[in-house]
Amino acid sequence: MLKRKLRHCHSLRFKLLWFLIFTVGTLSLIKIHHKADFLNHEHLELTGEYPDNHINCSKILQGDQQEIEKVKLELLTVSFRKSPKLTSNDYINMTQDCDSFIKKRKYIMEPLSKEEAKFPIAYSIVVHHKINMFERLLRSIYAPQNYYCIHVDKKSPESFLAAVKGIASCFGNVFIASQLESVVYASWSRVQADLNCMKDLYRRSMSWKYLINLCGMDFPIKTNQEIAEKLKALKGENSLETEKMPANKEVRWKKHHEIVDGKVKNMGIDKQHPPLSTPIFSGSAYFVVSRRFVEYVLENSNVLAFIEWAKDTYSPDEYLWATIQRIPEVPGAASASAKYDVSDMNALARFVKWHYFEGDVSKGAPYPPCSGVHIRSVCVFGVGDLNWMLRTHHFFANKFDTDTDPFAIQCLEEYLRGKALYQHRH
Ligand SMILES: *[C@@H]1O[C@H](CO)[C@@H](O)[C@H](O)[C@H]1NC(C)=O
Ligand SMILES: *[C@@H]1O[C@H](CO)[C@@H](O)[C@H](O)[C@H]1NC(C)=O
Repeated sequence: MLKRKLRHCHSLRFKLLWFLIFTVGTLSLIKIHHKADFLNHEHLELTGEYPDNHINCSKILQGDQQEIEKVKLELLTVSFRKSPKLTSNDYINMTQDCDSFIKKRKYIMEPLSKEEAKFPIAYSIVVHHKINMFERLLRSIYAPQNYYCIHVDKKSPESFLAAVKGIASCFGNVFIASQLESVVYASWSRVQADLNCMKDLYRRSMSWKYLINLCGMDFPIKTNQEIAEKLKALKGENSLETEKMPANKEVRWKKHHEIVDGKVKNMGIDKQHPPLSTPIFSGSAYFVVSRRFVEYVLENSNVLAFIEWAKDTYSPDEYLWATIQRIPEVPGAASASAKYDVSDMNALARFVKWHYFEGDVSKGAPYPPCSGVHIRSVCVFGVGDLNWMLRTHHFFANKFDTDTDPFAIQCLEEYLRGKALYQHRH
């Protein structure tokens, strides 16, 4: 009896010992795995990419005035103006070895979450110069499940096109538009460039859920995860600026226009009324639209007739998408009633600072003054714009330029990458 009890006890102790060994083993395995995972991502961080400058991006993002002033002084120095940037030839050279390019430029080559993997996004990117800006934009929005169509201006230097081709050749999901336009400011060609990419992307894959269009001076202010989450929550609705057409802009589409000496000119001839019962709305070139919207635009005969009608007008990009978005049958559209107007600040597509709206937010201005410089009344952001901008709901902001303030882009890159890598951990 005692013996049996002892033996029982013995085997119990034995089992307990095995259980303990097993548990400790498993736990340490999990721990090693976690650590490996963490180390795995450390080499993808973008902090310390520019060891020679001593700007503290955490301070910049917190809106630290001293640090912002430090950047302004730095931008005036000779050493800054002489600092080398990666050129088209550098990219042509680097992309001959794609493995090394991807590693060196720290591309994220695996989906960072299941939600993102299951929600591919398509991008149409219209560019014409500044290869380093383009590549940093691509890197900051790149995810292996997404699709990227790049429209390179026909007028771009050969070396620029070759560099974009080189970059695209390193990724299965990045490609150049099959049809390239010579883009003339304010002309139809700007819309056609996006339409060419729309067609290509639509044929390329059935998996993507939303399409976002960008230009070379855009930069993201949200991570891919954040964008995918918000898009999912739209449940098929589109998000773009679409408002009542100001009377002074009506001439843009009431008169026939032609390109004369590289400029879009009003020829003084009345155009036919647009072939729509919906009025014409005002908006911007930038949109966030569902796949079904794209399908409708490419295939619906009413929309195609409207597109045909719009080709000889001034800056059709600034009313075409805004108007299509208000046609009742269009998937994800908003009602044409004025109560459904969406301002640029309410739309998700783009954060832009217009000179004449900037001011004291506490006194009713939509945003504080530009900390960079203005081009055609639009703010080219400086580091001082980041803190406020990052609290808006927009996916992208426009305009950024490494020649105006490279630290603004550098700090955004670091911030977004850190957020993307560690948002699911801890
Ligand atoms: C940057 O500033 C933060 C405080 O905002 C500080 O915690 C951090 O150590 C600084 N980083 C460097 C590299 O000096
Ligand atoms: C790229 O440039 C480096 C340094 O300038 C050079 O050594 C290398 O041979 C070049 N690679 C190719 C593929 O041209």
